[in-house]
Amino acid sequence: MIIRRLSPADAAAYRRLRLRGLRSNPEAFGSSYGEEAKRPVKAFARRLERTRATWTFGAFEGRRLVGVLSLIRAERRKERHKAEIVGMYVDPAVRRKGIGRALLRRAVETAHTLAGLRRVRIAVVESNRPALGLYESAGFRVYAREEDALLVRGRLYSMLFLVRTLPGRGRSIRRIGRLVVPRRPRVGRCAGAGC
Ligand SMILES: CC(C)(COP(=O)(O)OP(=O)(O)OC[C@H]1O[C@@H](n2cnc3c(N)ncnc32)[C@H](O)[C@@H]1OP(=O)(O)O)[C@@H](O)C(=O)NCCC(=O)NCCS
Repeated sequence: MIIRRLSPADAAAYRRLRLRGLRSNPEAFGSSYGEEAKRPVKAFARRLERTRATWTFGAFEGRRLVGVLSLIRAERRKERHKAEIVGMYVDPAVRRKGIGRALLRRAVETAHTLAGLRRVRIAVVESNRPALGLYESAGFRVYAREEDALLVRGRLYSMLFLVRTLPGRGRSIRRIGRLVVPRRPRVGRCAGAGC
């Protein structure tokens, strides 16, 4: 199995796998099959153009794309210390072989190389035990929960939000059981919006 960053040349295979994921696991993603299926290959190619803010990685068995995930860095100046991992999907035929873990590791390794990046976040539907187990075993910790965050085919799903802080920056959070919360600012330091 090979993991590499995708480029516009991978757009058709990426579109196929992504649509398959959205159709088979609609509750796992914020995007919906109906919306994404309308977009042509060209739109997916644009998404795979290499920018300084988005990395989409693919796992290949031979020449077949079998897993994907994206790392997206926030672009606004006050949020550039944060990135998000989204769109993780592994073809059901090759699950439980370590592909999801390898994709996640690659995204986290990439995050480590980005100057100024301090937090990597992931959102997951609370009932998605496989994904939650993967993220927690990779060092992500739940810091928030949103009740009824997604409505899919008439059913409501709550979401958990997880974060992993990058090495050397861990002092900005503390853990209370499964929750990760920011430390209070030191006395005397301005923490208000006007700072
Ligand atoms: C979640 C997903 C990406 C995992 O991919 P995968 O290649 O099967 O994962 P791995 O083989 O690397 O497994 C890594 C860990 O995830 C957890 N895990 C994966 N599948 C699991 C399952 N069916 N049940 C319980 N835990 C599971 C385990 O902790 C596992 O570690 P272990 O094998 O040492 O026990 C895959 O199941 C998937 O594509 N699901 C549908 C889409 C989805 O839910 N995406 C996540 C959106 S947030």
